[in-house]
Amino acid sequence: MPDRPWPAAPVIYQIYPRSFRDTTGSGTGDLNGITSKLEFVADLGVDAIWLSPFYPSPMKDGGYDIADHMEVHPALGTLGDFDHLVARAHDLGVRVMIDQVFNHTSTEAPWFKRSVARDPVYDDYYVWADPKPDGTQPNNWLSQFGPPAWTWNHKRRQYYFHNFTSDQPSLNLRNADVQAELKQIMQFWRDRGVDGFRIDAVTSLLFDPSLKDNPPATPEVRDKVSGENFVPYTYQDHAHDILPGDGVDYIQNLRDWAGEGAFLIGEVTSGNKSVDLACRLVADGGMSAAYTTDLPEKKATAAAYADILDRSDDPGHLGWWLSSHDQTRHLGKAGDGSAREARFFALLLATAPGSVLIYQGEELGLVQPALPKAAVTDPLDLLYWPDGPGREGARVPYPWAEGGNRGFTTGAPWLPMDWPEGISASVQHIDKGSVLNFYRDALAFRRASMQDLTLRHWERDGDVIRLSYPAAYVVLNFGAEAVEVEGAADLSSDRIDGTLPGRAGAVWLR
Ligand code: GLC
Repeated sequence: MPDRPWPAAPVIYQIYPRSFRDTTGSGTGDLNGITSKLEFVADLGVDAIWLSPFYPSPMKDGGYDIADHMEVHPALGTLGDFDHLVARAHDLGVRVMIDQVFNHTSTEAPWFKRSVARDPVYDDYYVWADPKPDGTQPNNWLSQFGPPAWTWNHKRRQYYFHNFTSDQPSLNLRNADVQAELKQIMQFWRDRGVDGFRIDAVTSLLFDPSLKDNPPATPEVRDKVSGENFVPYTYQDHAHDILPGDGVDYIQNLRDWAGEGAFLIGEVTSGNKSVDLACRLVADGGMSAAYTTDLPEKKATAAAYADILDRSDDPGHLGWWLSSHDQTRHLGKAGDGSAREARFFALLLATAPGSVLIYQGEELGLVQPALPKAAVTDPLDLLYWPDGPGREGARVPYPWAEGGNRGFTTGAPWLPMDWPEGISASVQHIDKGSVLNFYRDALAFRRASMQDLTLRHWERDGDVIRLSYPAAYVVLNFGAEAVEVEGAADLSSDRIDGTLPGRAGAVWLR
């Protein structure tokens, strides 16, 4: 791989390792399972895979609570398995990106235990603060999941800060020793052949060290919140707990630590400042790309799509996506669940002006199955059950085949796999008209005919978005009514007959 530079706007396929394929019968997916399916992934026509965390973890947040950043979770394999995976991916021409969760560790990480014990080396590795004189929390900051961002530790008689659950103490990224550790982690994985990194919660990495209270969000700020206001986090203006002042400059460190040629894509989870922050992160070559939750959370409407373009002067450096391990699958949430709409969304992604993130299984047109509460382990889903975001449902293992446990495992899958018959990869592979084959066609089209994704012009007319690239013209019809178009398209998600039907898209080459 290394001798070819990354494409400017790669198509990246996200794999949630526990749910892709199990080769041991444990019921949990593993690294060898991923390797066994890389040919399938390469056939889709993606440039890279991004692996969600596969590190040792007590799994209090689906693996995003890491106990050791430089090992493989024993249930998922070994470092040797990881090396095989990378070698196989590279043989197939697919680059490998891994998740780097630098905002926090697990409370089970040795660093945290030593910090609690005030070991002088680790004393300052996390964000510790004294209580106010009345014993309450140091300030009004809230975790992104809702509850306060501070948890009391009786041994240190201090609070520790956490942007997510109390099992995920935030690292003090201003500490030089912590920085040296993170650099070492990135180099460790680069030395194993990793080509790029997805930086988890990048907007949370820094905060204002004066720990000032956040002011309440003004109506204008609240208006920009993506998704629903169901967490109190959205009631604040994140003036002090998210990348303040020097925060964006800090990204240059990640760039330096990652080393030459690495693709860095940042996840922006910053509520009301999302697109603006994403644009600042990619300015001056800091991040290669950054993405926000706006499009999936606002149910992929024409208005949401246009709003991102409106707020960005550089859409080529944004990441465009609809589903992930953190969101209810888009086909049932933003669409009617049909194969026809799955093709529309595929075309939307394949024609997007920047990097594209595809989440495992969306290429089958999967609609998320319901899960019984007893099966759910995700802390965010459980906190607001049954009204949470449905993160765990998006992690139901992949249906490779019909029957049994759908070719995912020979054991008992870690989540119930309540998929309908007839949607598996093996059935769709041989059906020319399947959603899977449309994804393949659309991505092949992007690769062959849409290399230059400089957006020359775009417009929104109600439910219709039109994009004009140097060599292609795209119409996306998000509405129910057909719109008039001229001539046969070079690629379309539905039949064109002088008009483009509702919930369909098409591309014309110039
Ligand atoms: C990111 C991950 C999410 C996790 C959170 C905390 O948003 O995508 O799954 O819960 O970070 O690490």
